[in-house]
Amino acid sequence: MDNLNALFAKVREEFPALTQKVHGKPLSYLDSGATTLKPKAVIDRITQFYSFETSNVHRGAHYLGDVATQGFEGARHTVAHFLNAKTSDEIIFVRGTTEGMNLIAQTLGLTTLKAGDEILITEMEHHANIVPWQMIAEVKGATVVAAGTLDNGELDVEDFKKKLNSKTKIVSFTACSNVLGTNNDMKLLTKLAHEVGAKVVIDGAQIVSQAPVDVQAIDCDFFVFSAHKIFGPFGFGVVYGKKEILEQLPPYQGGGSMISKVTIAKTTYNDVPFRFEAGTPHVEGAVGLHAAIDFTKRIGLDKIHQYEMQLLKSATEKLSAIPDIKIIGTAANKGPILSFNLKGAHHSDVGQILDREGVAVRAGHHCCQPLMARFGVPGTVRASFSVYNNEDDINALVKAVAKAREMLL
Ligand code: ALA
Repeated sequence: MDNLNALFAKVREEFPALTQKVHGKPLSYLDSGATTLKPKAVIDRITQFYSFETSNVHRGAHYLGDVATQGFEGARHTVAHFLNAKTSDEIIFVRGTTEGMNLIAQTLGLTTLKAGDEILITEMEHHANIVPWQMIAEVKGATVVAAGTLDNGELDVEDFKKKLNSKTKIVSFTACSNVLGTNNDMKLLTKLAHEVGAKVVIDGAQIVSQAPVDVQAIDCDFFVFSAHKIFGPFGFGVVYGKKEILEQLPPYQGGGSMISKVTIAKTTYNDVPFRFEAGTPHVEGAVGLHAAIDFTKRIGLDKIHQYEMQLLKSATEKLSAIPDIKIIGTAANKGPILSFNLKGAHHSDVGQILDREGVAVRAGHHCCQPLMARFGVPGTVRASFSVYNNEDDINALVKAVAKAREMLL
């Protein structure tokens, strides 16, 4: 454990944001569920791109165009390897998980669904994995159905099974709840969904930075994540899709790059994955994500997982010792996310007091209003942990929550 702590003490030094004070206090950044801080390697890579490699991709008849294209396509290759996709053709670059979900809903949903069909999600989904399905369901006359959550925050797998039937054409679920921390059993849920012939979409936003993902072993049809939640830049993300399925889908947006031939009468489309990438892409997003993945590989996702579980355990134990704390989400298999409320206090008030103490958390409904309704709360305070956190951050959190309790109750 000492070796692990020493390793991550060094990792912490790679994050310039943590050298600053907030409200005169050392910054305890416990909001990695919203976005991770960026290590110097990622910041430097993006600076390098803008300083010396700026050029458009797939178009250049010049040196810099080739450098930028190599950086962009190199990132696609690295992402494919990171997810264990069969080929880099299965990797589509988008703006983030939200755009990824919309892309899948507007292509897979558009071509797969008909009136009376069902899309099965879960009650613990982020709005990004609810609203795009509602939008396409309305167009196609289909229905969105949600499997319930147990009181401890685990998915009600029996309810999930009950709600799967011959009308279920798409199943879309989160790998890890951004509120409860619950890690869902991706292999099991995928297998169950495939048994009724449904296609499987996984929201991987919260899982990619905390545990290795193997899309072939899971056998999901789609997997989506955002770069900014794994130490990479904002405005960039990934859709993995099985090639044989992607090849059957229509394009998402129209424009340059996604075409093969255009006449005024008709357009034929480019091959997968370019068919889904209209317009000039977020090139520095791709090279930044590449650097971010290299950063996680250098440390090792297994070690990251082990360290984050140590932080979660410690924070859960220390926070539970404060009277009037209610933790929401106590699943056996959890990611490094700890949601709680101080009984009798509003989550926003607690969040503000924590902020004044230099402790950055998210307070609110976390874009999960159906889940809030399920637990009968308007919101929660959420502390989420990453590679740069340590026991001092947890102690600062616990001290600030105890202070909030004194002030508010
Ligand atoms: N989905 C992000 C979160 O959970 C923004 O905070």
